[in-house]
Amino acid sequence: MGRVQDKICLVTGAASGIGRETALLLAEQGARIILADLNQEAGQKVAAEIDASGGQAIFFKHDVASEESWVSVVEKSVEHFGKIDVLINNAGVLLMKPIQETTEEDWSFVNNINTKGVFFGVKHVLAAMKESKGGSIVNISSIYGMIGAPGSSAYQASKGAVRLFTKSAAVEYSEHNIRVNSVHPGIIATPMTDDVLADEDFTQAALGSAIIRRPAHPKEIAWGVLFLASDESSFMTGSELVIDGGYTAT
Ligand SMILES: NC(=O)c1ccc[n+]([C@@H]2O[C@H](COP(=O)([O-])OP(=O)(O)OC[C@H]3O[C@@H](n4cnc5c(N)ncnc54)[C@H](O)[C@@H]3O)[C@@H](O)[C@H]2O)c1
Repeated sequence: MGRVQDKICLVTGAASGIGRETALLLAEQGARIILADLNQEAGQKVAAEIDASGGQAIFFKHDVASEESWVSVVEKSVEHFGKIDVLINNAGVLLMKPIQETTEEDWSFVNNINTKGVFFGVKHVLAAMKESKGGSIVNISSIYGMIGAPGSSAYQASKGAVRLFTKSAAVEYSEHNIRVNSVHPGIIATPMTDDVLADEDFTQAALGSAIIRRPAHPKEIAWGVLFLASDESSFMTGSELVIDGGYTAT
């Protein structure tokens, strides 16, 4: 038996990085996976990888910033697998810009995906979870949703919003046996951080305050997400799981 045996898990941003590793790990642990991402080619590759290793996965092209797209993805997921037990709201974008250079367009771009996308996901999956008498929702925030850092204010505001929205949803839906938690990764080596980690000065500064001074592999986040998706975390809701090499401890 896997740790999430027979659970139906919807993972957004599943074509790359943390989402991809999470989808692969959940599948390895017995879940059936709905992969949702804007990147169709890479998403379909992950689905094929899961199928080839004996799991079951389906890919849907999806824009988390579009409410219409959410309605369609949830409907197609329930049609395909019959229910949704777990939602991993992982899709996100990073923008590095000082506040004075951040335009209204920049702000909306980041917050529409990172914050509104999470709101839409929770909003539209609730009916399916209520129908199946429970579920687990994991929202991927960041250490930048907990502490400040220079040059990424729109991103930090979006991740701070996810942190508190998670607690609101946990309180509002606890009576339906739906748990909602957030995950706060530190610096993880994924395509999102390729550019910033190529800058030696940034990397040294960014990792300077961590206890474990290296970027993490995305699988090190996926293990935490797996725990929150599984029934092993049955007493956790409205909580923050920080996986940051000790960055916020110092
Ligand atoms: N990499 C890090 O250091 C780090 C740290 C803390 C938090 N995070 C968070 O983890 C999550 C995953 O990041 P990652 O590092 O794996 O990034 P990534 O760039 O490797 O993957 C992000 C995925 O999201 C998809 N995506 C982007 N916009 C989308 C949209 N509108 N609709 C659907 N899919 C969309 C992309 O196509 C991509 O596949 C993000 O929410 C990110 O903010 C990352």
